[in-house]
Amino acid sequence: MSGPNSEYDPVQVSGLSAEEVADLVELAKAAIGAATDLDELKAARLAHAGDRSPLALANREIGALPPQARKDAGQRLGQARAQVAQALSVRQATLEMEQEERILAEERVDMTLPVQRSSYGSRHPVTTGSELIADVFIAMGWEVAEGPVVEAEWLNFDALNLGPDHPARTMQDTFWVDPVEHAIVLRTHTSPVQARTMLTRTPPIYVVCPGRVFRTDEYDATHSPMFHQVEGLVVDRGITMAHLKGSLDHFATAMFGAGIDTRFRPSYFPFTEPSAEVDLRCFVCRGEEPAVATCRTCRGEGWIEWGGCGVVNPRVLVACGVDPEIYTGFAFGMGIDRTLMFRHGIADLRDLFDGDIRFSAAFGSEL
Ligand code: PHE
Repeated sequence: MSGPNSEYDPVQVSGLSAEEVADLVELAKAAIGAATDLDELKAARLAHAGDRSPLALANREIGALPPQARKDAGQRLGQARAQVAQALSVRQATLEMEQEERILAEERVDMTLPVQRSSYGSRHPVTTGSELIADVFIAMGWEVAEGPVVEAEWLNFDALNLGPDHPARTMQDTFWVDPVEHAIVLRTHTSPVQARTMLTRTPPIYVVCPGRVFRTDEYDATHSPMFHQVEGLVVDRGITMAHLKGSLDHFATAMFGAGIDTRFRPSYFPFTEPSAEVDLRCFVCRGEEPAVATCRTCRGEGWIEWGGCGVVNPRVLVACGVDPEIYTGFAFGMGIDRTLMFRHGIADLRDLFDGDIRFSAAFGSEL
């Protein structure tokens, strides 16, 4: 039942002649050789070796040939396609190499050029200083207590034996939060944390509380409307002024080194009785003649004020729910900023708050 194949396409079959196959190979090689980059080579591959390339289409026609012609054409086409594939892979390798060389040349980095270094931030000396202070007390088994900076008037004043008409209220010029009738202040000292601690814990209490405080002070070399205090509070059986003095001497030594002199000066705070002001030996003139006479740091005093302290007033214990028949306690409050100024010889308080990183960076390695 053999006969002419009615679907046989003589045009396609003529493409199988040796000359035409050779032409196709030449055409393919020319296109491959002309490809100047990998994209162009990809296009050439598609056109001359892809499924719809003339050689691939011709290959499909092989089956329609008589057996002998089929074998010849198969060989011819197989060789032709192998030549094209070979040309493609050679060109591919060349172009890849060229591309790599181009990238290496174009993206060259000169490792010897100076770099623009980005500066590192550093922790602020008030932060590291507060932690250092807290650590001195943590090492003695105390705990850190914290309280809010926006505080109830009652805790900032009344609970500490500073009633509404108490003259000592004017010692601390207060920022009131609007509306004033709500009796909320920006805490003027860290002492409300004493009250909060006694109200929420039962003795024995050994806490230290570093934090921000606010007073309506001018901003100058020694004053700021925002500064930092550290409060200490101990409530236990049999606590005396001697424990206070010992703790503060230890604190002073930890901050300023062995041999630092401290002195207590009688003073008045409504929340402590007796009360004292703690002074440090002037770190500039050391109180020695003749330097002390002209010393601007201590103004000829030989001592500089460090903070306030005293034995907790029994009225405060009562207001905060502690039985003064069983417990006594001591408290102190020191300026952290002042402490750091003495410790590091910082002459102007504003350096601590102006936010110039050249200042704080100098403390960057302090932990
Ligand atoms: N709160 C006081 C002040 O800021 C300092 C102080 C604290 C005094 C604790 C005695 C006891 O001036």
